[in-house]
Amino acid sequence: MSSTDQGAPAVSIDRPEDLGDRTAPDTARGYRGEGHDRPVLTIDDFSVEYKGERVVKAVRNVTLSLGRGEILGLAGESGCGKSTLAYGINRLLKPPAVITGGSAHFHSREGYVIDLNELSGEELRAFRWDKIAMVFQGAMNSLNPVITIQRQMEDIFSTHRPDMSKKDRRVKCGDLLERVGVDRARLRSFPHELSGGMRQRVMIAMAMALDPQVMIMDEPTTALDVVVQREILREITRLRADLGFAVIFITHDLPLLLEISDRIAVMREGEIVELGDAVELYTNPQHEYTRKLLASFPSLTGERGDFIRGGSRAQNGEPA
Ligand SMILES: Nc1ncnc2c1ncn2[C@@H]1O[C@H](COP(=O)(O)OP(=O)(O)O)[C@@H](O)[C@H]1O
Ligand SMILES: [Mg+2]
Repeated sequence: MSSTDQGAPAVSIDRPEDLGDRTAPDTARGYRGEGHDRPVLTIDDFSVEYKGERVVKAVRNVTLSLGRGEILGLAGESGCGKSTLAYGINRLLKPPAVITGGSAHFHSREGYVIDLNELSGEELRAFRWDKIAMVFQGAMNSLNPVITIQRQMEDIFSTHRPDMSKKDRRVKCGDLLERVGVDRARLRSFPHELSGGMRQRVMIAMAMALDPQVMIMDEPTTALDVVVQREILREITRLRADLGFAVIFITHDLPLLLEISDRIAVMREGEIVELGDAVELYTNPQHEYTRKLLASFPSLTGERGDFIRGGSRAQNGEPA
């Protein structure tokens, strides 16, 4: 999703009455006994196929729920369907991809539920960024090279918050940059004047611009060097603690996921084979494939139990 793909949404996703029968009071409590009182996103029996010359069943009957404020890691080898699932949830898939079954529902903080399959193009545009924001691996390369960071960031507000004054927009963009550790003086820069890490931070700042309730991050730090990657991850866990959004964090890098996630879903050939508490999954993996995946990372195969989580819970003062 780039800053340039937005038309001006005419409907407000915050007024359920604008959405007619595509929204309903939220009755999901204790969804499927997964342990959250109130999920923010539920995915049910979701399937996607690429109907090219050869049909690829990329996502098969995935059922997941994301708790409010939770960091859910989605792990699995390259090609197992992680990105297809992420794009599918947000209805960003392009042909030959077809959603062949299932549904995704967004459960708003305000107590209503939206069936994402039912949203029209215009409504979807209003919905993305605002409720569910995405950050992609190559996101930093989707910044427009001939437009300043400031203008690209301000675009989001002029589109989604048309009543905001110019001055407020400017201040807000500077604040957002500082929130992700980039000096606000960078607002005047063009993308090529920033390092890859800084550009990726800008994309994360943009994803946070409208205070979304869910962030889907697909390999957001994979192209960056390890030090920058660590810094950004620390930033994300801090921000989620401050702002309370939920995150689906996608990566093939399981050790990294173990550090930042509350729960982890392990995906293999389009299916979720194991889903559980991150520490539990590490110390007591149930599925053969999870064990294999864990064993494939040398950094994880040392003494079990001496693994230090620098992640979310540890930072919240809970036992790691
Ligand atoms: N445009 C496409 N056409 C056909 N098959 C695709 C397309 N995009 C992805 N696939 C296939 O779908 C499967 C899942 O891909 P993807 O979701 O990108 O996996 P991951 O993100 O886990 O690496 C892979 O087998 C991939 O080859
Ligand atoms: Mg991918």
